[in-house]
Amino acid sequence: MKTENILVIGGTGKTGRRVAEQLKNKGIEPRIGSRNASPSFDWDHKDTWVDTLHGIEKMYVSYYPDLAVPGAKEAIVSLTYLAKELGVKKMVLLSGKGETEAEACEKIVMDSGMDYTIVRASWFNQNWSESFFLEPILTGEVALPMSDVLIPFVDTNDIAEVAATVLLDDSYNGEIIEVTGPELITFKDIVNIISKTSQRDLNFYDITLEQYIIGMKQMQIPADVVWLIEYLFSHVLTNPNNQLVVNDIEPILGRKAKSFLEYAKETAKSGVWNQVKVH
Ligand SMILES: NC(=O)c1ccc[n+]([C@@H]2O[C@H](COP(=O)([O-])OP(=O)(O)OC[C@H]3O[C@@H](n4cnc5c(N)ncnc54)[C@H](OP(=O)(O)O)[C@@H]3O)[C@@H](O)[C@H]2O)c1
Repeated sequence: MKTENILVIGGTGKTGRRVAEQLKNKGIEPRIGSRNASPSFDWDHKDTWVDTLHGIEKMYVSYYPDLAVPGAKEAIVSLTYLAKELGVKKMVLLSGKGETEAEACEKIVMDSGMDYTIVRASWFNQNWSESFFLEPILTGEVALPMSDVLIPFVDTNDIAEVAATVLLDDSYNGEIIEVTGPELITFKDIVNIISKTSQRDLNFYDITLEQYIIGMKQMQIPADVVWLIEYLFSHVLTNPNNQLVVNDIEPILGRKAKSFLEYAKETAKSGVWNQVKVH
């Protein structure tokens, strides 16, 4: 396997893990940027960054936890300019559709003088199997606000395949690629699909954002996580730009984006939705 000096920051996460797999399938062993990697990379400790960036030519960056959180912009400024100083030629930034703060981070990369491609994603399917929407599915009681908002949920396998393609193919330099799923879908639709594909009885409750926040606080979810989820619901989900299907995936991958139903059928087979929790 050849090493092409490619770094995947967040390389064990929802998108980064899959970007690394895509590269390995093409015979490339990327360096992983994460706290558990060697060398270790920690967003909160800049002294770890130089070793991880040393000798790297191209990098995929997924910021943790979200480009909207306080301090993200400063971290992206520091990382971008350090990378440029150390000779990194190209950066592929994972961004979020309809997030003003994420767009400010995109601009830092676009103005850096490095080659870049921005991969701007809508909400991920895998939030239901690898992130904060999994817990309510396991308890069988899903209470969410904004149950009728139409969202073009996108699959992280598609995001990763796009990211790996644009990392390697310089004809996408300077572009913003918008990655969404092929259809608009509501939380209610999603819970129905997961219920059918996993053969679980799931109860759905339409609640207000205020009730949702009170519930998270009662469950002693950390304040910064509650802040982020409130922000994502109140500012990102309701942004009309997010309620649109964009077909950027198809010309790049030569196939349609994966639907939520396809994702749900595959995920149901893994058994992740059947580890039922009683609360
Ligand atoms: N979820 C969505 O629906 C959505 C939609 C659009 C855009 N986005 C964007 O997606 C990005 C997150 O990407 P993702 O979901 O692929 O990642 P993720 O799964 O949330 O991230 C986990 C990765 O981050 C690493 N990590 C955690 N804390 C770290 C720290 N302090 N320093 C260094 N690495 C750390 C983890 O490795 P270790 O634990 O080993 O450190 C792991 O590799 C965010 O910037 C968000 O804005 C998300």
